[in-house]
Amino acid sequence: MTKFKMSVNGETKVYGIIGDPVEHTISPFLHNSAFKAAGLNSVYVPFWVTPKKLPQAVDGLRSLGVQGFNVIIPHKVTILQLLDDIDHSVRRIGAVNTVKNENGKLKGYNTDGVGALKALEEANIKLQGKAIILGAGGAARAIAFTLTKHVDEIVIYNRTETRALDLSSELSKSSRIPITGKKLDFQLSSEKLGDGDIIINTTSLGMYPDVNSSPIDPNVINSNITVFDIVYTPYKTKLLKEAEARGAKTVPGVNMLVYQAIKSFKIWTERSVEDKVFFKAAMSALERH
Ligand code: ATR
Repeated sequence: MTKFKMSVNGETKVYGIIGDPVEHTISPFLHNSAFKAAGLNSVYVPFWVTPKKLPQAVDGLRSLGVQGFNVIIPHKVTILQLLDDIDHSVRRIGAVNTVKNENGKLKGYNTDGVGALKALEEANIKLQGKAIILGAGGAARAIAFTLTKHVDEIVIYNRTETRALDLSSELSKSSRIPITGKKLDFQLSSEKLGDGDIIINTTSLGMYPDVNSSPIDPNVINSNITVFDIVYTPYKTKLLKEAEARGAKTVPGVNMLVYQAIKSFKIWTERSVEDKVFFKAAMSALERH
């Protein structure tokens, strides 16, 4: 754990994260380390907010002058209608993961898409060909919308098929590449997945404590595929281990977490802190998982 002396006083600015559940998040480690590195008198705390309490919580955060907050499961889409303004990234993606309090008005942003893109670029992954996205939730939306500009085809597989179909038809409206939605099931054949250039898992399968689960049969993975799992607890998920064993390139989810956090931090504070501060905080937080 990154150790630092924190002193909260009457001038401390408060930031946070809302979710249900929220206790698994490691974002407080990242942002509090960055505040310290930037010499800012600010603190980032978790808020457990159930869907029923979301409207009151958002009003409360606004009234209390909380300067900014992240939004996670399951509020990324439902929070849209409760905000005063949204950034162009949200207009396109339709999901919010970052909110900034601008003089009492709450403005929503999305940094998940750019975070995922940066994670792939930094891992030297050539984005081209066919992208297979597993899951159709908030994170899948952000990644899919971002990838439409970089790949030639997208296929979205989801447990609830209708969500995959809805997301793919929504994406198709503003994109010229073929985008299809299908039912995700573990037994998907290699003919279906094996011709993908990149497989991105956005489902929670494999996330702690469900560490022995994986969304797909490992036999569909070959050495020509890149596998990116946005789950970051554990650092190396079962899917990533199986992909590595089959010679595939892999990208761990913590990289996306860090790059989306760096972007959120910049939106809130207009300050930049070295990437390594965020990575160090993330890695030491994960060691404790
Ligand atoms: P996020 O904002 O992180 O994307 P979300 O919007 O709640 O979270 O989406 C979670 C995704 O994980 C969904 O695609 C969900 O599938 P459903 O639409 O069928 O619910 C997927 N998911 C969660 N648990 C799953 C499981 N046990 N098996 C397969 N998919 C699962």
